[in-house]
Amino acid sequence: MDTGRNHIVIGITGGIAAYKSLLLIRLFKKHGYEVKVTATRHALEFVTPLTIETLSQNKLYTELFDPTEHRDVQHVSMADWADCVVVAPATANIIGKYAHGIADDALSTLLLAARGPVFVAPAMNDRMFAEPTVQHNIELLRQKGCRIIEPQSGFLACGTTGTGRMEEPEQIFAVVDQFLQGEQFLAGKRVMITAGPTYEPIDPVRFIGNHSSGLMGFSIAEAAAEWGAEVTLVTGPTNLSTHHPAIRRVDVTTAAQMFEQCMAVADQQDIMVMSAAVADFTPEQTAPEKIKKTTDHLDLHLVKTRDILATIGQQKRADQFLVGFALETENEKANALKKLHTKNADMIVLNSLRTEGAGFRTQTNKVLMITRDEQTRESELKDKKEIACDILRFVHELTNSKEA
Ligand code: CTP
Repeated sequence: MDTGRNHIVIGITGGIAAYKSLLLIRLFKKHGYEVKVTATRHALEFVTPLTIETLSQNKLYTELFDPTEHRDVQHVSMADWADCVVVAPATANIIGKYAHGIADDALSTLLLAARGPVFVAPAMNDRMFAEPTVQHNIELLRQKGCRIIEPQSGFLACGTTGTGRMEEPEQIFAVVDQFLQGEQFLAGKRVMITAGPTYEPIDPVRFIGNHSSGLMGFSIAEAAAEWGAEVTLVTGPTNLSTHHPAIRRVDVTTAAQMFEQCMAVADQQDIMVMSAAVADFTPEQTAPEKIKKTTDHLDLHLVKTRDILATIGQQKRADQFLVGFALETENEKANALKKLHTKNADMIVLNSLRTEGAGFRTQTNKVLMITRDEQTRESELKDKKEIACDILRFVHELTNSKEA
C-alpha cells in the first residue's frame, strides 16, 4: 500500500447481500486498508454490530444523533477521513435517496458529505432493478460521477433468476483496490472502443452477422478503465458483460447505429480503438415481413456501410490517437499497412487468421502492431486480456512520446 489512499468507508444497506459485506470488510482489512462502517437500521436486521465491529476493528456508525459522539459531527468527519466510500449492497431506497439528495440517516447524510469517489454496488430483485425509476436514479448517480458496480445475473434470494445479484465481494474489492492503488497511466483520458459484430437485418427474423465475440474489445475496455480512463464502449450484440464502473456501455445492433453512436462522441475522445467487426455491406432494404421461400432463388441487394474508422480518420485532430484493426488472410503486413494509410489511423493491430488459437471465438490472440512510421511490436499467442494491456501500453508510449 504505497499510494497512501487506504481509508475505506463501507456503507451497508438492508438487503440479504449484506452478509457478503462482511467478506468485503475482511478483504479490505486483509490487504492493509483501514475500514469504517456505517449501516442502516434495516441492514442491522441482516448483520450484527458485533460482527461488523470485530471485523472492521472500528466502531460502527449508525445513528445520526448519537449522544456519545456529541463532540464530533460524525458524518462529516468520517466523510473527510474516507479516501473512498463503497455502498454494498445498495438497495433501491439508498440509490433513490442519494440520487435526489435526501439525507435522513447516517449513511445518506455521509454520502452527501463524501469527498472521494463513491462506488455503489446495487443489489435487489430483478424486476426492481429493471424498474425505470431505479434505472433513472442509477443514471443520475453515474452523472454525479459515482461509480456503479453492476449487479450480475443469477439466482436471487427471492427465488427467481435475473439481474440484480450484487457483484461478488472479491470483484468489488478488485475494482476499488485497482482504482486506489493501480497504475493510473490513462487517468484523465477518454477512450472510445468499438467491439463485437454488427447484425444487418434482412427481414424481421434474419440478419447478416459474423463470428466476432467482442472479447478483444471488451478486454481493452476493462484494461483502459482499470488504468484510469473514462471509457465509452460501443458494442454490437454479444453475450459479454462489463464490470468496471468507469465503462459507459452503448449497445447497438447495426453498422449504421454503431456509426451514429461513435460519431456522437468521437470529438471528445483522446484515444479511439476500433476493434469491432463491422459489416462492410448491409441489405439495401429490410423486408417488412418475413421473406417466404416461394421462389428458387433469392437475390439480396447489398450496399456498402459507412466506414467508421475511415470517417474518424478523416476528421480527427492531431491530439487524438486512432487505432484500427485488420484481419487478413494473405499479404498480411502489406494489406494492414495499406489499411492504416487509407483510413488515416495512427496504428493498426493485425490479427492473423492463420495462427492457431487466434482470431474469432478464441480466448487467446496473437497480434502485430504497426504505426504510421512503421514501428512494429509483436505479441506472442496469449490471453486477450494480456493482449489488451499490450495494445494500451504501446498506445501510451506512443502518445507520451508525441506529447513530449
Ligand atoms: N471498420 C469500421 N467501419 C466499417 C468497417 C470496418 O470502423 N464499416 C473498421 C474495423 O473496426 C477495423 C478496420 O476498419 O478496425 C478494418 O476493418 P476490415 O473489415 O478488416 O477492413 P476493410 O476496410 O473493410 O477491408 P477488407 O474487408 O476489404 O479487408
